[in-house]
Amino acid sequence: MKEDRKFDTQELWRRDLEHCIHPWTDFSTFKEEGSLIMAESDGAYVVDSDGRRYLDGIGGLWCINIGYGREEMAEAIAEQIRQIPYFSTFTHLITPPAATLAAKLADLAPGPLNHVFFGTGGSMANETAVRVIHFYFNRLGKKNKKQIIARTDGYHGSTYLTMSMTGVAFDHIGFDIIKDSIHHIPAPNVYRRPDGMTVEEFCDQKVADLENKILELGPENVACFIAEPIMGAGGVIVPPPGYHRRTKEVCKKYGVLYISDEVVTAFGRLGEMFASESVFDMTPDVIVCAKGITSGYVPLGATLFSDEIYDVISVPQAKGALFTHGFTYSGHAVSCAAGLKNIEILEREDICGHVREVGPYFEEQLATLLDLPIVGDVRGKDFMMCVENVANKETKELLPAEAKIGHRIAQHAQNRGLMVRPLAHLNILSPPLILSKEQIDFIVETLRESITATMDDLVREGLWK
Ligand SMILES: Cc1ncc(COP(=O)(O)O)c(C=O)c1O
Repeated sequence: MKEDRKFDTQELWRRDLEHCIHPWTDFSTFKEEGSLIMAESDGAYVVDSDGRRYLDGIGGLWCINIGYGREEMAEAIAEQIRQIPYFSTFTHLITPPAATLAAKLADLAPGPLNHVFFGTGGSMANETAVRVIHFYFNRLGKKNKKQIIARTDGYHGSTYLTMSMTGVAFDHIGFDIIKDSIHHIPAPNVYRRPDGMTVEEFCDQKVADLENKILELGPENVACFIAEPIMGAGGVIVPPPGYHRRTKEVCKKYGVLYISDEVVTAFGRLGEMFASESVFDMTPDVIVCAKGITSGYVPLGATLFSDEIYDVISVPQAKGALFTHGFTYSGHAVSCAAGLKNIEILEREDICGHVREVGPYFEEQLATLLDLPIVGDVRGKDFMMCVENVANKETKELLPAEAKIGHRIAQHAQNRGLMVRPLAHLNILSPPLILSKEQIDFIVETLRESITATMDDLVREGLWK
């Protein structure tokens, strides 16, 4: 870390407080507390503007896959800026990194997913998936096939459409959403399945939920089903074995396209470049990715479509007519150069192999927290993990919202040099994929201390037991 750089924390804090509108923020506390200013980074660590160092258990926001401070990334980005920072990809124009990255993604993606549309993030990539699927069905003359099925607790982004597909009820408070064309079916949350039901029976039920919804709406009206391989922001919900393969079969049976939202899971988080086929044995019609595609160094998102979809959408609907979808920064040269270098690093260092080796250790060690009285569930896979805190392990009852349990634990962890993400009663862990076993031990020990300190607080304040 550079010793000579100094930040005026007070002044930065004031500028932020007075002028930034933060995403996903409770303004009542923000206006009192302001922000923690992250100023530097290195490997798996971030350093705040006062020089305090933290192990980043959040991975930026599920995205710093190769870790911070990679000189090669800085070089690739700078070199692209020197060559040509930007040129349009509209109509018949492209830059070398955009063409090369599209080909690379087609090579890495499963089966027939050979056609890539670039945007700048996950929301835009999901928006593109739906817009293009609707266009596809229009081209086939199936103009009623527009309904979208998503899942309760799914997260797909923050644009109007993608927030409407998002199924986290809390996220909809106070905002309008599109209701007439988007339908939610229950999440395959194994931890909260009905008492006495086996995991297999639960899976049958969740697959039937999809089939019943398609039949209720009429298959001729349903365009697509959107699902994350493992639900992220909704609480790291790992589906029961076979769920994705079977829901894909249901989609196929009724001519419904399957969008796999791999914004979090792609590029190594589950030990594979793409998880849909390699981890979940299912080839979707569309894959959406972002975040880890550049390890968060610069913004980029991509939507990958099957040959079948491309063959239909690439026939002009009228002589000289255009495919009128695109953004100024679609295929941005600097972002694509960063994506290429990021994938080169992931492959050269076999970071997926590292995740496959160390991921099970992370799962195993984190599961040791289950002996704590408020830890109801520890779940996830590899570098996508979550601790669910409850008031009562038997009944799985939650603590009152005012206990702010996830937040308290995160605050204790932060005081001990670890960043973890609070999400209501949950704590989410999505660290850089380069963590060593020692760093994993630090996370688990620090979380244990933080949860224990939180339990003491709750007892002292009369909020628990
Ligand atoms: C699964 C999933 N899809 C989509 C998004 C939206 O991506 P972005 O915030 O880049 O628009 C996210 C963001 O966390 C996500 O987790």
